[in-house]
Amino acid sequence: MKNIAVFASGSGTNFQAIIDAVEANELHVEIRLLVADKANAKAIERAEKHGIPTFVFHPKEYTNKQDFETEILSKLKDNDVEYIVLAGYMRLIGETLLSAFEGRILNIHPSLLPAFPGKDAIGQAFDAKVKITGVTIHYVDEGMDTGPIIAQEAVYIDEKDTLDDVRKKIQAVEHVLYPKTLAAVLDKVQEAKGVN
Ligand code: GAR
Repeated sequence: MKNIAVFASGSGTNFQAIIDAVEANELHVEIRLLVADKANAKAIERAEKHGIPTFVFHPKEYTNKQDFETEILSKLKDNDVEYIVLAGYMRLIGETLLSAFEGRILNIHPSLLPAFPGKDAIGQAFDAKVKITGVTIHYVDEGMDTGPIIAQEAVYIDEKDTLDDVRKKIQAVEHVLYPKTLAAVLDKVQEAKGVN
C-alpha cells in the first residue's frame, strides 16, 4: 500500500472525499500526513477528526519557498511518504519538492485543462460563458496547472446555472473522480512492481 501526503489550503472537501474512499476500502493508500499552508484551513479539522497527522506551516515565517519546502520534505521523509496529492493547495510546487518527488505529485484542477489554469477556474469558465467545463487530474510539473493529464471529466453549464450551481456540479464530479483516479494510478504502480 502506498503512503501519501495530501496538501491543502482551504476547505478540504476533496481531502474528505479521499479519506472517505480510504475508509470505504475503495482506495488502498495510507494517508500519512496532511500538509496545510494556512492555520485556519478546514482541512486541518478533517485530518484531526480522522487521526491523520498534520504539518501546518506559515510561508511568511520562511525566507523563501526552498526554505519551507525543505522542512516539508523532511516531514515527508519522516513519514515515509511516496506520493504527494494536491487537493486545493493554492501554491506552486518548487524545485525542492519537484526533484524529490519527480512523477509522484498529482493535482486536481476545476477546469478542462489547458483551459482556465490558475486561480478561480470555475469563475473564469463562468465569465467566459462556455457551455462545457470540467475537472482535470494531472501530474505536476514546474508550471501552473500544467503537466501530463491523467483524467478529465466534462461538466455542462446550462443557461440557467448560477456560478454557485456550476461550483456544486464541479465539486460533485471532483469528489468521485479524484479518489477513483488515485486508485487507478496507485494500483497500477503496485501491479507493475508486483507488491501489495
Ligand atoms: C478544488 O475545486 C480544486 O480543484 C481547486 O481548489 C478546490 C479546493 O476545494 N484547485 C485548484 O484550483 C488548483 N489550481 P477543496 O478544498 O474543497 O478540496
